Amino acid sequence: MDLPSYYEFLNPVPVIAGTAAIETIPALLIRLDARRVMVLSDTGVNRAGLLGMVTGLLKDQLEIGAVVDDIPPDSDLKMVGTLALAYQQAGCQALIAVGGGSVLDTAKAVNILVSEGNGDADLRQFCGHGKLQRPLKPMIAIPTTAGTGSEVTPIAVVKDHAAQRKLAFSSQFLLPDAAILDPRMTLTLPGHITAATAMDALAHAMEAYTCLGKNPLSDTHASTAVRLISENLLRVLREPDHKPGRLALAMAATLAGTAFANSMVGNVHTIGHAVGAVCGVPHGICMAILLPYGLAYNLPKTAEALGELLLPLAGAEVYAATPAYAHAYKVIESVHRLNQALHEATGGRHPRCFGELTKSDGTTWVPQTLVDEIADAAMSDASQIFNPEAMDRDDMLKILSAAWEGRALLQPPLMPL
Ligand SMILES: [Fe+2]
Repeated sequence: MDLPSYYEFLNPVPVIAGTAAIETIPALLIRLDARRVMVLSDTGVNRAGLLGMVTGLLKDQLEIGAVVDDIPPDSDLKMVGTLALAYQQAGCQALIAVGGGSVLDTAKAVNILVSEGNGDADLRQFCGHGKLQRPLKPMIAIPTTAGTGSEVTPIAVVKDHAAQRKLAFSSQFLLPDAAILDPRMTLTLPGHITAATAMDALAHAMEAYTCLGKNPLSDTHASTAVRLISENLLRVLREPDHKPGRLALAMAATLAGTAFANSMVGNVHTIGHAVGAVCGVPHGICMAILLPYGLAYNLPKTAEALGELLLPLAGAEVYAATPAYAHAYKVIESVHRLNQALHEATGGRHPRCFGELTKSDGTTWVPQTLVDEIADAAMSDASQIFNPEAMDRDDMLKILSAAWEGRALLQPPLMPL
């Protein structure tokens, strides 16, 4: 393997993983001189009893200044501004985010406002990379899905509804002060969401391992994430209460988040962001459907690296039975097989292609009439910069067409002469 001539790797976030991990939060915050907290969450997490569990465990040792349980899936500038004001009115000193990627990103954005100004500053001035100049207030991330890895990434994404676009903030100061991986937090996650969010983590890991920014440290994190997902995802779908499996998936998401935060992603995220922006399809579903197609497109440039993932992805038996020249092809086939297995394990709720993806009213979620708009959006997505193979608009359409039909892009390779 050729080593990069230069790279940087940063992961200063303490990760506290395991049963009773939440109980460590008071000591963590008291060390940071913060005793009065604002807790952010969403209605689903609250309804599942997880928010009450967290506040119940913390209330004897911390003052809970404010609890907000209605962070939407794509929270926006207005919501962040309102929360920043509430944080200051309640005299809080730290943020605790209990939820999926949107809740964690919202907490990061609120932290920018309450740390950088009086809470009434315009968040948009901090948009982009490196605009923050100093450490923010203490923030603890408790993910309730095992997918985005936001608990260890220096990135926050918030919607600007007026401008109809998403704003991305990137700074090492957005890294939380701790990531709490407690298996109690994901036990109630429904099967199809467990599947989709885990496939987001798998896409982070596989793109981190094959993109242009890869390095030996991100590789190590990524390949371990692939193994943990492969070994635990289907088991957790069969046994949702399996705590070690839930914890393994949470660790995989954190490992994959650390990997891509230090290497980047590629065309799966490029096109997935576009499908999400144009059609509103949840990110994890986009990742699951697009992953084998994005990997297949890049295969001419990534065969060696991708082939290295066969052992962690498919296990020793498949690895031993596959000739070396077919390793990378087998990886892509294994991802297709995993999507099929997830489809069956979730009673059909995990989609295998965009063509079979319907909204609750039965209408097609990704109409073919929108593929041109999706391709245009993908062409302006920054994540394609690190994709190993060059892509033009026709290439985007080729991947979208195959992923819509569920048609494999590759044929099994012939033995080299
Ligand atoms: Fe992702």
